Amino acid sequence: MADRYLHLTGTAPGRFLTRRLGLPQPAPLRRWTLDTPRLDGPLLHLTAGTSAIRDGLAKVLATTGLTVEERPARPAGIVLDATGVASARGLAEVHAALHPVVRSLAPGGRIVVLGTPPSSGDHHQAAAQQALEGFVRSLGKEVGRGSTVQLLRLPADGTPEAAESTLRFLLSPRSAYVSGQVIELTAAAPGSVPDRDAPLTGRTALVTGAARGIGASVASVLARDGADVIVLDVPGARDDLVRTADRLGATALPLDITAPDAAARIAAAAPGGLDVLVHNAGITRDRRLANMPAERWAQVIEVNLDSVLRTTDELLAAGALNRGGRIVATASIAGIAGNDGQTNYAASKAGVIGLVRSLGPRAAAEHGVTVNAVAPGFIETRMTAAVPFLIREAGRRMNSLSQGGLPADVAEAVAWFAQPDSGAVNGQVLRVCGQSLLGA
Ligand SMILES: NC(=O)c1ccc[n+]([C@@H]2O[C@H](COP(=O)([O-])OP(=O)(O)OC[C@H]3O[C@@H](n4cnc5c(N)ncnc54)[C@H](O)[C@@H]3O)[C@@H](O)[C@H]2O)c1
Repeated sequence: MADRYLHLTGTAPGRFLTRRLGLPQPAPLRRWTLDTPRLDGPLLHLTAGTSAIRDGLAKVLATTGLTVEERPARPAGIVLDATGVASARGLAEVHAALHPVVRSLAPGGRIVVLGTPPSSGDHHQAAAQQALEGFVRSLGKEVGRGSTVQLLRLPADGTPEAAESTLRFLLSPRSAYVSGQVIELTAAAPGSVPDRDAPLTGRTALVTGAARGIGASVASVLARDGADVIVLDVPGARDDLVRTADRLGATALPLDITAPDAAARIAAAAPGGLDVLVHNAGITRDRRLANMPAERWAQVIEVNLDSVLRTTDELLAAGALNRGGRIVATASIAGIAGNDGQTNYAASKAGVIGLVRSLGPRAAAEHGVTVNAVAPGFIETRMTAAVPFLIREAGRRMNSLSQGGLPADVAEAVAWFAQPDSGAVNGQVLRVCGQSLLGA
């Protein structure tokens, strides 16, 4: 179901009319393409107060492929290092650094504020660092023109190298539909990639629910990044699944993820072990609780949560995930904000968030595997095309970018989690929602 409003505001008369009526003005987002793999313009590196990581951060920023300039007229990206801000007074430095330049940010630009975790032993530092969260979330709502703003927290005594893969993602067209997010890195060794243009070369990835929609896009982006991909979907979707597999040079595995032998069959399909496991398969069976029969409740919990828990446990126990492996699950902003008619779905997706936060640290310690989740907002797929018109329009507009996301936006976030050098990214839930007002 095409977004006609986005099309309308892309024309001069449409822009004029909607502006006069005070309606939202979505800017066309610049996403990754072969011809535009990077932001189109220089990067500005600012520091609030003093920073212990300035030189190290400069080296990391050089890996983004962007040119760092002292005073660019129109920066495509701005990185503000606020790791040294430890008091309410120090926040003035944040204002002083960004106030003069924020208006010069190019359309589709990126602002990343670097901070550290709020300390439990120093409430002044904690206040100042927590303040950055409110700052970033507000600025995300202000910048407009398809630009985004995030807060990236480095571990307390960590080095900026841990942030390399994350900064490359956030300062690129790949994160077009991610805004107002807080990402917290761990102190784990991040790992490395020999080829940044094909970071998943030699890695085997399996994506569930990959016959269509977001899953097919995830498979496609992982294949683009060099992975050998196995696509899994229910036997009833075999034709679409085989078409997706053929298009990508992937292997098709028709299998219901709720089957008792699902984990064993996945392991058998990847004899060399899996490096990336993407739990994407999901269903909705909406009804208000008062009208919801037990089987509708059970189906959703079974597909969206129980099978994710079961296959994850069994694959980890069998050693079917290689060290350095990455598990990426799919939550939803419904699991954060709740949704009328979706007690079952929201429970299942909130459950996924619980799983990720609890298992992430243990899976890293015991198996060398990270566990993260994407939480999509309104993404243009068959699932959302079936939503009634007014709710669909609200979903599209009620976010800072005033439009729905595309499956590729979720896929790019999954691919960042999946990278071998994203080892410091663990237990995170990244909303890919254009900074939706729901659950914000
Ligand atoms: N589209 C959105 O706006 C949105 C928002 C938030 C979260 N999500 C989540 O993203 C994921 C993908 O959503 P989508 O919009 O692409 O949905 P979709 O319905 O287009 O695709 C889901 C795929 O999962 C498959 N699947 C369902 N049950 C399965 C099972 N038991 N075993 C194997 N495969 C199964 C389906 O056959 C289908 O191909 C889901 O987990 C969904 O809950 C989507």
